[in-house]
Amino acid sequence: MPLPQSVLVVGSGGREHALVRALLASPARPRVIAAPGNAGIALDVPCFPVAADHVPGLVALARREKMEFVVVGPEVPLSLGLVDELTAAGIPAYGPKKDGARLEASKIFTKQILLKYKIPTAPAAFFSEAAPALAYLHTRKIPIVIKADGLAAGKGVIVAQTRIEAETAVREMLEGGKFGASGRQILIEDCLFGEETSLLVVVSGRDYVILPAAQDHKRIGDGDAGPNTGGMGAYSPAEVVTPALLARIEREIVQPSVKAIAAEGMDFRGTLFIGLMLTPDGPSVIEYNARFGDPETQVVLPRLATDVLELLWAAARGELGQIKLSVNPESAICVVLAARGYPDSYPKGDVITLPVASNLPPDTFIFHAGTAQDANGAIVTAGGRVLGVTALAPTLKEAAERAYAVCNQIQFASKYFRRDIGARQLNRS
Ligand code: AMP
Ligand code: GLY
Repeated sequence: MPLPQSVLVVGSGGREHALVRALLASPARPRVIAAPGNAGIALDVPCFPVAADHVPGLVALARREKMEFVVVGPEVPLSLGLVDELTAAGIPAYGPKKDGARLEASKIFTKQILLKYKIPTAPAAFFSEAAPALAYLHTRKIPIVIKADGLAAGKGVIVAQTRIEAETAVREMLEGGKFGASGRQILIEDCLFGEETSLLVVVSGRDYVILPAAQDHKRIGDGDAGPNTGGMGAYSPAEVVTPALLARIEREIVQPSVKAIAAEGMDFRGTLFIGLMLTPDGPSVIEYNARFGDPETQVVLPRLATDVLELLWAAARGELGQIKLSVNPESAICVVLAARGYPDSYPKGDVITLPVASNLPPDTFIFHAGTAQDANGAIVTAGGRVLGVTALAPTLKEAAERAYAVCNQIQFASKYFRRDIGARQLNRS
């Protein structure tokens, strides 16, 4: 299959930096550009200052730069219909259209599909008024999970440990306007217990390719303490997902999910990210996302021996059946360096000192997320999650040692990172 000679990557996170690196590594040697990108992506490819949610601007950029392919990273442009617009303009794109993006943009929509197709998931009820929601709460066990229906940058989920906390969350969303329109409808969902794992599945209609499983670290603090974040670190492979368990997940969750999405009339060509809880009764779906996970992508893509350009292009063209995935058996780990204060308020503009590339251990990558260049040309912090340090090694232990050595070499005033990325798996083995 002839591969595209040019690719626009939309987004500005560590995920997009990992995508850019993976596409640059393609034997097809495409011209890669990004919008808006960040200071690190700009070291690798030309970046154009078009915001990731500016749909007409992105379509115009792709046209002007004669892009043969667009890879969309974040959920917001997907849910705004960027891929619908690119398709209408005759530009092939990787990522679902607006209808498929609803699998992430509306948790109620997704829960209805999961229940309709009997895909394992926690029982839930939906509300737009506080009184019936509070009444329902009293019929359920604690802990209980309250979720805003819409997109909330990973913050719209409260796992309430007490009734008071649950009632407060319900009131804040339905009466207090917390999360705005995203919280006008909520789900109240039974709490699942077990280990979480992230499965990235490249989907093209009824075809799919399951990428190696990863585990994220959602909480801000060591030992999984404190509030949820977008993700503070990840590793792959996830050894909890044994071959036997993966076969079960494929049978009970991946296959029925792909079938259900097609049966609902969505021509989904993009990443179906399945967030799973591995409960004592079996795997259960926590959520779908309609895009690559971050930081998961920063550990999964470096492990692929398959040409990522070919993989994503095949999905976009409906030719995924031809792809045979090849995975590097080594372990990858990613430690996220955040700005202290994240996921709440945090400083911006701290100057970042990075080790020179020749001082990096082998197979380590510094992916940029919230970074920018200031007026003096210095690289400064510009977001909550600032950098992702990924290392690849024969064992997870060696990978962790390499990644943490680099984390210690990187300096910025607000630098904060978890010291226990991978610990769960390391302690197991
Ligand atoms: P979500 O945005 O749906 O991925 O939820 C964010 C996080 O909240 C998940 O990664 C879980 O850690 C937690 N969570 C969501 N739903 C549940 C549930 N039903 N039971 C336990 N934890 C959950
Ligand atoms: N790391 C979780 C996510 O990308 O949603």
